[in-house]
Amino acid sequence: TWTMVNIVEEQVERVRAQIGGKRVVCGLSGGVDSAVAGALVQRAVGDQLTCVFVDHGLLRKGEAEQVEKDFVAATGATLKVVDAQQRFLTALAGVTDPEAKRKIIGREFIRVFEQAAREVVAEAGDGDEAVEFLVQGTLYPDVVESGGGTGTANIKSHHNVGGLPDDLRFTLVEPLRELFKDEVRRVGEELGLPAEMVWRQPFPGPGLAIRIIGEVTAERLAVLREADAIAREELTRAGLDRDIWQCPVVLLADVRSVGVQGDGRTYGHPVVLRPVSSEDAMTADWSRVPYDVLATISNRITNEVREINRVTLDITSKPPGTIEWE
Ligand code: XMP
Repeated sequence: TWTMVNIVEEQVERVRAQIGGKRVVCGLSGGVDSAVAGALVQRAVGDQLTCVFVDHGLLRKGEAEQVEKDFVAATGATLKVVDAQQRFLTALAGVTDPEAKRKIIGREFIRVFEQAAREVVAEAGDGDEAVEFLVQGTLYPDVVESGGGTGTANIKSHHNVGGLPDDLRFTLVEPLRELFKDEVRRVGEELGLPAEMVWRQPFPGPGLAIRIIGEVTAERLAVLREADAIAREELTRAGLDRDIWQCPVVLLADVRSVGVQGDGRTYGHPVVLRPVSSEDAMTADWSRVPYDVLATISNRITNEVREINRVTLDITSKPPGTIEWE
């Protein structure tokens, strides 16, 4: 039978055959796919792999630690962490337009990753151990979407990765390209990755930056990170993770409203809870989260996050609303 163990064994063999004695780099995003792909390649070639984690400071509470501690503990992989938080904040200063945020984040990410990859290449030196390979967590649906069936695997596997310069040319290693998302999650479990990492809900590449409506600042990120962590914790506690596709928590950073908290009048910010049910994110319905759970989330956020004095619920389907607010 085609079990996860078979899949892991087969892919490990293939990766070994492809990479031989060379060195290989894997960029970890904090997401499921890159973590599982990295874990598989680590299983196959061990220390020949160096993982790179660009910490742009836009992940949610605990996610950077998941990569730096839990991923490393589970896989034994060598990890190079680049703390680029200040660099991303500087690049995003004054920017409020959603697409401008995305462009800046994409551009900075490529630059930082490129520099890190160059360092890995330089450290490895030339000769038999030269770095030639880059791991990508491409899934089967991505392959189909980009028009590459199995017949074009050879053509597709030897091209430069989008955004990296010509002199930094890698051959791609894509151990997940025959798998669907749920299989990737089960392969991740088989490889011993932590459940929180493997069963993580979809999270956009630009991260919390597109959940702050307005300029992204360190203070605003800290506020949103706390509110988001509370919402996630309570939804999980209520057993709703499998019913909810994702639940963005959005900080309306340029809106203020009057409230009474503790000793007196406050003039704080609202957050929006955006729990949605969906099959594929193309369409979505707002989730009918039980009132008790919403009440707990609201009480905790307004009690525990000083800057937030109002919690609102988004009851718009997609269409017409998108899942994210930006
Ligand atoms: P929307 O907001 O378009 O989101 O309904 C649909 C799905 O896509 C995710 N999303 C993104 N993912 N980069 C990503 O990697 C992005 O810029 C981005 N924008 C939205 C969103 O979280 C949802 O799952």
